[in-house]
Amino acid sequence: MQDHQSGHQRLTLSDVQRPEYLANPYPLYHRLREHDPIYWDEEMHAWVLTRYTDVVAVLRDPRFSSAWGPVETAWMPEDLRPQLEPALRAVSRQMLFLDPPDHSRLRGLVARAFTPRMVESLRPRVQRLVDELLDAVQDQGEMEFVADFAYPLPAIVIAEMLGVPPEDRSQFIVWTQDFGRLLDGGNLSFEELLTTLSGIADFLAYFRRQIAQRRTAPRDDLLQALILAEEQGDRLNEEELLGNCVLLLAAGHGTTTHLLGNGLYALLQHPEQLQLLRENPSLAPTAVMELLRYDSPVQLTSRRPTADVDWAGRRFKAGEEVLTVLGAANRDPEQFPDPDRLDLRRTDNRHVAFGHGPHFCLGAPLARLEAEVAFTTLLRRLPQLCLATEQIEHLPSLVFRGIKALPVTFASV
Ligand code: HEM
Repeated sequence: MQDHQSGHQRLTLSDVQRPEYLANPYPLYHRLREHDPIYWDEEMHAWVLTRYTDVVAVLRDPRFSSAWGPVETAWMPEDLRPQLEPALRAVSRQMLFLDPPDHSRLRGLVARAFTPRMVESLRPRVQRLVDELLDAVQDQGEMEFVADFAYPLPAIVIAEMLGVPPEDRSQFIVWTQDFGRLLDGGNLSFEELLTTLSGIADFLAYFRRQIAQRRTAPRDDLLQALILAEEQGDRLNEEELLGNCVLLLAAGHGTTTHLLGNGLYALLQHPEQLQLLRENPSLAPTAVMELLRYDSPVQLTSRRPTADVDWAGRRFKAGEEVLTVLGAANRDPEQFPDPDRLDLRRTDNRHVAFGHGPHFCLGAPLARLEAEVAFTTLLRRLPQLCLATEQIEHLPSLVFRGIKALPVTFASV
């Protein structure tokens, strides 16, 4: 896009996909915020908001909806429709894409499993898993942190909570990528959309099989609790049950994997901060919050106003997409002094990495617990932890920020 005042090529949010900004999008966000914190992006066909105050205000404003709107099926090839249509419908019934009252009903059903007290009771199990994953690599003096640690830890934890076999996790990663691609939206070709949706259809079929087994042999886990809610009538229908199982499994580990990967990468790039945490493990809760702010696993989310809304001199028309860039809000100097500095002791850290308002991340206490146990144990058990390469590649996504692979070395003891 041409900037008429300066004659320069103007940067837009899509530029995040250029290699230099994929490695570090924050200078781009600063430019957008300084130049025009609320702008209409022709390419994305959406409003882009990069100021903390706007992001927070939109996310808690009931005039903005999270809903997908009616599910379009006319484009689907006739022979694939019976498989793809239920997949799309179930995704559209996830709590993430619902407004009150449906949203409150669904969230209430799942929320009981995620209270801070329930999550805290998982601490000994998380600690054991972390120790087992480290036992497997400790003698080697090296590991690929994403595949060996950051991926399996949250995948096993959420699989155990739901009550599905953790051994199926190599399949979960593929389906979670399909789900992530759908959320990333936009640039999918027709063929990619078909492949993605048929992956999600397989994901649903997997849960249908798990649910069928429970109907004959009930168990004591989160999936069973959701099935009970479905069996008790109109509180949860089958589409909602399936959609929310997919959401919990996918949201429950993809993002936490990125927190662990981005977090360790940030620590390795700031050895004095790493040392601070190594020497003061009690800093872990504030440290994890700072790592979430500094390089957020979810960089943006979106809403649509249900009627025209006048906003700081602009008019958002009903139905237009409004992108709230969480990653930019988290580096806004108006909210965070010296925002580009990683400061594990930062106080008053009201970051929006878990979103804000009614859809605030349900899994936040779980993600924080896993990261706190992971980082303190890693630093205690692995002396001389170092990056094994300078060539770090990020996932090509506007929504999710994560590292493809993070090879590290350490002193084997
Ligand atoms: C919602 C981020 C981990 C389950 C959200 C939202 C964000 C987010 C930004 C709000 C999206 C929006 O408003 O549009 C993260 C990050 C995580 C993480 C950064 C890890 C570091 C988890 C975990 C679980 C989970 C571990 C479950 C086990 C959910 C659910 C919602 C959600 C169910 C939807 C809540 C609702 O719509 O009311 N998450 N999440 N997340 N997250 Fe997380």
